[in-house]
Order: sequence, then structure tokens, then C-alpha cells
Amino acid sequence: MQTVLNEILHTCKEETTRGAVANYIPELAKADPNQLGICLVDADGKSVCAGDWSHCFSMQSVVKPLILLLALQDSGVDAVRALVGMEATGKPFDAFNYSDQALTGAHINPMINTGAIALCTLIGGSDYEEKFQRLLQLAGKLSGNPSMDILESVYLSEKATGNKNRALAYMLRAYGMVNDPAEDIIDCYFKACSIGVSCMDLARIAAVFAGHGLDPVTGQRLMDAEYARYVNATLATCGMYDGSGEFALKVGIPAKSGVGGGIMGVVPKKMGIGVFAPALDKKGNSVAGFKVLELLSRQLDLSVY
Ligand code: DON
Repeated sequence: MQTVLNEILHTCKEETTRGAVANYIPELAKADPNQLGICLVDADGKSVCAGDWSHCFSMQSVVKPLILLLALQDSGVDAVRALVGMEATGKPFDAFNYSDQALTGAHINPMINTGAIALCTLIGGSDYEEKFQRLLQLAGKLSGNPSMDILESVYLSEKATGNKNRALAYMLRAYGMVNDPAEDIIDCYFKACSIGVSCMDLARIAAVFAGHGLDPVTGQRLMDAEYARYVNATLATCGMYDGSGEFALKVGIPAKSGVGGGIMGVVPKKMGIGVFAPALDKKGNSVAGFKVLELLSRQLDLSVY
């Protein structure tokens, strides 16, 4: 397996020259586009890694499945379904234009910004700092890395520039979908996006979703199987935004991307995958990360379709 990963990374190295690192969050523009890393954690808890797998980068949207999971655990399926739908939008992750219709839950899903921001309100906690700390603890527990923390410079950078997300939070309030102060909700979302992870962390988290809640490394149950299936299904239909259909065709595994360059892939019953390469395509998905997953899926016959 080590040889397979080394060869795939070697083949895909050239792909790191395509696309561009995100620059709308200034701190992300500092990323080195030459980096490429991967880690797999299989159903026996064994890991194999290659390239820049230990490099720490911000989760960005890869945190959205965890926000969804915690909202499900804390508030239940009915509350989540009442607030946020589950259909693919076919629009960019930060889409703003909801036409002249009133914004309702049916228009959004948990994997786009508006949906994830709304779901922060369903995380348990007496204030938004406590909600965020509970999310951070969940990320630490699922990854087996309790020292996980936010990358302060990324958080401050998005907080200073993230006015579109801020506007989405205010829009949710304007349409009566959330009642808490927009600034508190969005601060929790910005912190969530700036949690620092490695490919190993993403692979460990993905392996728990792949095991329908059982951590293959410790054998512990970390979430209900029902919630794991909920999240995995949402990843399959919406995890790669308006690139989800093409990703399903070429890779065929439930996955979530982030503008930090990470992609978390869940192969049910088989393995969790973390990939990192910071240069992105126009839809905000890692170009080389996508290619690595495409080759890996073909070589190991991982497509669920
Ligand atoms: O909200 C944002 O714009 C970023 N913090 C996260 C967006 C993101 O990762 C989209 N993914 N590809």
C-alpha cells in the first residue's frame, strides 16, 4: 500500500501546478502550492501515509460534517431537518443569490456556508464560545488528537475579511431562520473553519464515519450509526459543492473539501482518507487532491457506485 501511495503522489505532483491557492482569506494565500500529502486509515485501524501528510493546515469547510454531526447529536434529526435541507444546490459554497423567494431550509444544505452557519445554532452550549469548544472537543475525539486547536492567524484573517459569510448570517436572521446574534454565530463558524489538522487527523475522522461510528483504532463507538449514515449521505450528494456530480463519477466516494486544500474521503466499511494540496479549482476543491483520490479509487476499486 505504501508503494501505491508513493506512486500516486509521484504521478499527481504535476497537478499541484494547476489551480490556485485561496486568497480571499489572506492568510490562506501564504500556502505553498507544491505541497501534497495523503493518509489512509483502514478498517483495522492501520494507517499508511505519504508526502506532506503531517503538515498542519486549516480545516475550512471540512469542518462542516462535524458541525452537522454535533447538531444531530445535540438537537436531533427533526430539528436539523427543520432548519436545513439536504438537496444539492448546484451553486457555489458561498452562494448568496436566493432569488426573490424567501430563504427557507429547503434551499440550503449542511455542506454550503449558509447551511453550516445555520447549524451552529443547533450545537449545545450556553454561549457560542462553549458551542465552539464542544465542536473542537469532538474534532479532537474523532481524530484521536485531543491537542487539536485553532490556527489563530487563519481565524483572525477570516474574521477580518469574511464579510460575505457575515452577510449570510445576517440573511439567516432576516428570514427568521436563526434567532441568536449573527456576530456570535459567525464567530463560532470562523473559529470552526480555522481548526488546524493534518492528513492523518482527517483520515482518522473519516475512518470513524466509514466505520458507521466505530473508531477502528480504539474500537470505541464515537457516534450513532444513524448519524454517521446521515453525514455520509450528505457528503455523497453535496460534499464537493457544485462539483459533487463530477466527483461522484470520477471518484465515487463520499467526501468533503475545504479551501485550505484538504479533502476528507469516507469509504464506508473500508477506510478513511485525508488528502492535502492547497491549489484549488474554480469550485474551491483541491485540484491535486481530487486527482489523487481519482487514481486511488480506480486502483483500489473504492467507488461506492
Ligand atoms: O467560509 C468560507 O468561505 C471558508 N471558511 C470555508 C469555505 C470552504 O472551505 C469551501 N470549500 N471548499
